Amino acid sequence: MTPKVIVVGSCMTDLVSVTPRLPKAGETIHGSKFFIGFGGKGANQCIQAARLGAKTAMVCKVGKDSFGNDYIGNFAKNLVSTDFVGQTTEAATGAASITVNTEGQNAIVIVAGANLLLDSEDLKRASAAISKAKVMVCQLEIRPEISLEALKMAHSSGVKTIFNPAPAIPHLDPEFFTHSDIFCCNESEAEILTAVPVNSPEDAGIAGALLLEKGCKLVIITLGGEGCVILSQSDPTPRHIPTNKVKAVDSTGAGDSFVGALAFYMAHYPHLCVEDMVKRSNYIASVSVQTAGTQTSYPRRADLPQGMF
Ligand SMILES: Nc1ncnc2c1ncn2[C@@H]1O[C@H](COP(=O)(O)OP(=O)(O)O)[C@@H](O)[C@H]1O
Ligand SMILES: *[C@@H]1O[C@H](CO)[C@@H](O)[C@H](O)[C@H]1NC(C)=O
Repeated sequence: MTPKVIVVGSCMTDLVSVTPRLPKAGETIHGSKFFIGFGGKGANQCIQAARLGAKTAMVCKVGKDSFGNDYIGNFAKNLVSTDFVGQTTEAATGAASITVNTEGQNAIVIVAGANLLLDSEDLKRASAAISKAKVMVCQLEIRPEISLEALKMAHSSGVKTIFNPAPAIPHLDPEFFTHSDIFCCNESEAEILTAVPVNSPEDAGIAGALLLEKGCKLVIITLGGEGCVILSQSDPTPRHIPTNKVKAVDSTGAGDSFVGALAFYMAHYPHLCVEDMVKRSNYIASVSVQTAGTQTSYPRRADLPQGMF
């Protein structure tokens, strides 16, 4: 199987405790519920693309531990190729310890662990697959220089690149822009990168123009329940693409659902115009916010109106 979508990025195990309130320093409190979830932006995006029917491969690193083994099982269950998933004894699988109170406030500790050991050698092992793919997707939960190297490898082979600068860093290497066909971020990331406060589609157009100037071909700024704004080198007038109004239950991972869906459409429906791809990605992400959890809320092809395919 030749993967059409290759995601180079992170895997995290989410350890979630639900408590009546957040504990203070030194305090032990009892929670009402505990669950383990699969997360990490890279893996989330890859799983969403795979659930829509994309042929996908993940390039990442987990620990040689039970969470790492479980994560590999999760990829296999979702038909994601694990040919380029490495396991290391040098660090633990990335983990996010999350405490959420019943009002929805949270406190989170992330230990990136094995994610930070993904290196150039791992990329080289995947290079033949990368050069034959249609789309590469990268984020910033691994070492930024590895994301950039992956984008450059893809770009030099004519593979379309989607870069999601999350979590945002204020002084992003300018090469991230010139090697991104699509630069896709949310409101807060756009604000960190441009210093323009983004609270409306109009603001997103202003921030987006600044991002476009840095050399990417197309900018998408996602706006939660407002959908997103797109603008490109060939059509620099910002266009607001609204989404359907839904009752949001849990918007965790909505941005990753959106990016994964976009990668699927770019790889498997390249004849669609960007606006149509984005409308469909908005719709898929809006489905993901209507149920609890991250990957657990991502729809499969069979759950969606067949007109989307
Ligand atoms: N309340 C909502 N109603 C409908 N769609 C939503 C809602 N929240 C998010 N989405 C969809 O998910 C996409 C990404 O959401 P956003 O909140 O901008 O990203 P992030 O998860 O990075 O914060 C939006 O562009 C939209 O398509
Ligand atoms: C944007 O994404 C970041 C993760 O990179 C998240 O912490 C932040 O809350 C998101 N912002 C919005 C407005 O959704």
